[in-house]
Amino acid sequence: MDLQAICKKAAGLGKQIDLSDCYYTLKRTHSRYKKPVDYYRFLANFVYTQCLTSIVEIGTAYGGSIMVMNKGIRNKDKSFLVTVDKNDIALNILSRYNNIHMVVGDALGLETRRSVRSLFSKSITVDLLFIDAVHTYNFTKRCISIYGKLMSPHFIILDDIRLNEGMVKLWSELQQKFPNRALDITEISNRKKTAGFGIIEWKEV
Ligand SMILES: C[S@@+](CC[C@H](N)C(=O)[O-])C[C@H]1O[C@@H](n2cnc3c(N)ncnc32)[C@H](O)[C@@H]1O
Repeated sequence: MDLQAICKKAAGLGKQIDLSDCYYTLKRTHSRYKKPVDYYRFLANFVYTQCLTSIVEIGTAYGGSIMVMNKGIRNKDKSFLVTVDKNDIALNILSRYNNIHMVVGDALGLETRRSVRSLFSKSITVDLLFIDAVHTYNFTKRCISIYGKLMSPHFIILDDIRLNEGMVKLWSELQQKFPNRALDITEISNRKKTAGFGIIEWKEV
């Protein structure tokens, strides 16, 4: 199945997965955060329809996105999710999930990379790398380079590919580097048009 068909299949799953308890932040008084944010539905559906079991996320915040991806996991006992953030605000909430491991540290730092690496067996290949931390050209490019090499993910999903000049430039370079394997799925995923959402089939299987 090609990438577009894979993403359409995820979107087509609709609202079957209950995300009503997954929030972007704890500040539920803010109207924007009273329901799951736009891309959460796609992430959960993508994980479910592709039967993913291993995920690495860069940028945890309050744990909303890793929790929705976990909702899409079919067999939690056979899954392993790692999320990285320099802040530990989600540590408490995520500690109730046996299959989610949080690494606190600078994602680009050597120590953090080693910690992430040490959580996996020798031959790591993860199903999905979701990058949603610092939305600048340099940071995101380095993240892709470091964790792409380290984890050999099948898919990489990037948030905010349209957010600013740097992200637009990076996305354009990625589309040139991966013709037919880098797809802007802003519309398919229902992401805000000014933010943007992109997927790369990083490793062909
Ligand atoms: C946009 S938020 C992540 C939102 C989350 N993925 C979600 O959808 O619920 C970005 C996060 O990146 C984290 N961050 C910023 N710089 C970082 C770095 N150098 N290393 C790791 N995390 C970083 C911030 O602390 C923040 O929590």
